[in-house]
Amino acid sequence: MLPWLHSDHFPLYLAPMAGVTDVTFRALCKEMGADVMVTEFVSAEGILQRDDRTRHYTEFDDVQRPLGVQLFGADGVRMGEAARKIIDWKQPDFIDINFGCPVNKVVSKNGGSSLLKNCPLLAEVAREVAKAVPIPVTAKMRIGWDAQTINAVEVARILEDNGIQAITVHGRTRAQGYTGVADWDVIGQVADAVKIPVIGNGDVASGMDVEVRRAQTNVKGIMIGRAAMANPWVFQEAKHYLSTGGHAVPASVQQRFALMRRHCEMAVARSTRGGEFEIVRSMRSRLMSYTRCIPGGKFLRGRFGQIASMMELDDILAEYLTHSDRFHQRPDVDDDITVESN
Ligand SMILES: Cc1cc2nc3c(=O)[nH]c(=O)nc-3n(C[C@H](O)[C@H](O)[C@H](O)COP(=O)(O)O)c2cc1C
Repeated sequence: MLPWLHSDHFPLYLAPMAGVTDVTFRALCKEMGADVMVTEFVSAEGILQRDDRTRHYTEFDDVQRPLGVQLFGADGVRMGEAARKIIDWKQPDFIDINFGCPVNKVVSKNGGSSLLKNCPLLAEVAREVAKAVPIPVTAKMRIGWDAQTINAVEVARILEDNGIQAITVHGRTRAQGYTGVADWDVIGQVADAVKIPVIGNGDVASGMDVEVRRAQTNVKGIMIGRAAMANPWVFQEAKHYLSTGGHAVPASVQQRFALMRRHCEMAVARSTRGGEFEIVRSMRSRLMSYTRCIPGGKFLRGRFGQIASMMELDDILAEYLTHSDRFHQRPDVDDDITVESN
């Protein structure tokens, strides 16, 4: 039994998201109440080649524990070697294997969700990694390759039989990408079919969503991804809802701005690969994600699309606050409002 999945605890996981859940964002989500986290996926071959950039993705701080490093690949023995190398570097709490990535670059090399179409190879990958390492190995999967071949229950049983200790199920097929809605009926069937804990994932954005999915299925935890990109408070809001049945007061615009600033400052302070200019530029899409919960998001996104310094960030936020009454008066037409720049 994984200690964070014991019977009287229902953990909220931060989903691994490539390009998003780096060490800085994970630190913020941990403060906001995320219980368990998984690094964005790294290629086993990248790890074995000691590629510095790949290694950088496996960085974490102890406060982020329990934490898993996620690996993808299609050769179980090589993946086992890569997992051992990671353990030598960093001692994560678990290794997670990616059987869900839909991206062509990964799928074309038989990694990620393509293994859902090749159960013997999937079994071998799980078995070899589980055999190779002294720490728990978990897996994250989609419900199948496409709507005609949904095989999540069969895959979950194979994973359980081959040493996997917990499974996260994202309730979409590979063919769906991120479209449509997550199928929580299939997630529920998987949770009923295996003895190891199943973590449900897909479209959870509030405490009420967590409560509904927990009541509807036998999942032992919930993983949240895109909702946290826009609103990292989602973890604390969900915990508040689970413990009180009431809705927490949403974070204010000022609190959201303070978080954006802090996120940039932390990213600049941690950076070993560029100064403020490079880091703030690389944060543009992250800053844009935060605007989804702010009235007048279009105005902010327009400005963040060009941003390259902390000073500009302060100027944009000050400009927004000067005009904020206009956004708040007409939140329903948020995206139609533009502010003249001068
Ligand atoms: C930008 C982005 C990057 C992602 N990267 C990964 C990844 O590296 N590994 C993985 O297992 N899933 C990855 N995912 C999938 C998420 O972990 C999650 O399964 C998916 O977003 C559904 O959950 P949600 O509806 O809560 O967002 C990624 C998703 C997004 C949006």
